[in-house]
Amino acid sequence: MKKLYGFILLLVLALVLAACSSDSSGDSGDSDSGESESAGKKVEIFSWWTGAGEEDGLLALIDLFEEKHPDIEIENAAVAGGAGTNAKAVLATRMQGDDPPSTFQVHGGDELNEGWVAADKMEPLNDFYEENGWMDKFPEELIDLVSKDGNIYSVPVDIHRGNVIFYNMKVFEENGIEVPTTFDEFFAAADKLKEAGVTPLALGDKEAWTATQIFENVLLGVLGPDDYKKLFEGEIGFDDERVKEAAEKFGKMLDYINEDHASRNWQDSAQLVANGEAAMLNMGDWAKGYFSNDLELETNKDFGYFEFPATDGSFAIITDTFGLPKGIENPDDVKEFLKVLGSVEGQDAFNPLKGSIPARVDADKSKYDEYGQETMEDFKGARLVPSLAHGSAASEGFLTKANQAVNIFVTQRDVDTFIKALQNAAPEM
Ligand code: BGC
Repeated sequence: MKKLYGFILLLVLALVLAACSSDSSGDSGDSDSGESESAGKKVEIFSWWTGAGEEDGLLALIDLFEEKHPDIEIENAAVAGGAGTNAKAVLATRMQGDDPPSTFQVHGGDELNEGWVAADKMEPLNDFYEENGWMDKFPEELIDLVSKDGNIYSVPVDIHRGNVIFYNMKVFEENGIEVPTTFDEFFAAADKLKEAGVTPLALGDKEAWTATQIFENVLLGVLGPDDYKKLFEGEIGFDDERVKEAAEKFGKMLDYINEDHASRNWQDSAQLVANGEAAMLNMGDWAKGYFSNDLELETNKDFGYFEFPATDGSFAIITDTFGLPKGIENPDDVKEFLKVLGSVEGQDAFNPLKGSIPARVDADKSKYDEYGQETMEDFKGARLVPSLAHGSAASEGFLTKANQAVNIFVTQRDVDTFIKALQNAAPEM
């Protein structure tokens, strides 16, 4: 009898297990179709805005979107690493595998146009711009940066400036330093600071782009905006005497950086300026967002800013944009996100936190602090030049090689080798 009970128990157990497993496969079938239903309602936002100084703006934008569209799910798919160091590689793998995110961060200029648009991976957005009445809401030159062959391919959320130096005001004051406007003045100030035991220039080139950004600004200062552009358009060679002069000046600047530069990222280097160990930092104005929101420093009290020496009147433009990749499941939902991102409300939620100025011309100035307001004014009259370090001036292939060449130059300081490496990479530009 006991045996029979045991047998029945086993049988029941087996049946229950079988039911469970078929249930679970049934479930997974269900949840599969459930997923694809919700996939139709999910918008995956791919960027490299994670953590300190990067994330606040994105989260504010997502909050605003969720308020307006509680029915559409957002997935924040950010991959850490300044300037997209890691995100761009992950994105490339996904795009090549025909698995694009719903929308992704991409710089206006070559990164978008000669990258994803040329590879036929993006949908044109001309009608979308017309429908939203956006054609005169973004500066023409900005629309050009996100267009190829007459078609518009993305929506700019911000305009960052790259040729700016942030400085610790107390350190400048204590050492009697005036804001330098020329290279000579910069070097004189740096000598004075060095003598006083302060690191003149903070650098965190654990990721090489931060040093490349300094180099591009030196190039801009030495060549001026027109010839800087010509250099990246291939009309002036890297063997030009002035490129050599820029490399020498860049090398001289590197005499004034912190010793542990190679183990710091951009936020770590900004901290040196925040705490007064270093005096100056050349960084795009996402550093302004970091100083204000994360380190709670006050603009024009704790930190000041000035144009990179000899680049007054030029604006090294870095614009973060989002488009519509081909082959995604729910373009209409993604367009709803792009609509919020391109709206005055969206831009004014994002940019005051990010340190950037709005891409739109009709944003609410009162939402920005002195830095933002002054930068908006500067932008209007400035000569716009594309950034190399942030993918606008040249192809990703050239940028990778330029970053390598800069990285080697930072330690070896061999001008000729540096120039040769740039020259060799130039055909890929
Ligand atoms: C992006 C910025 C970002 C910065 C640092 C730049 O390439 O345009 O939005 O804050 O990298 O990660």
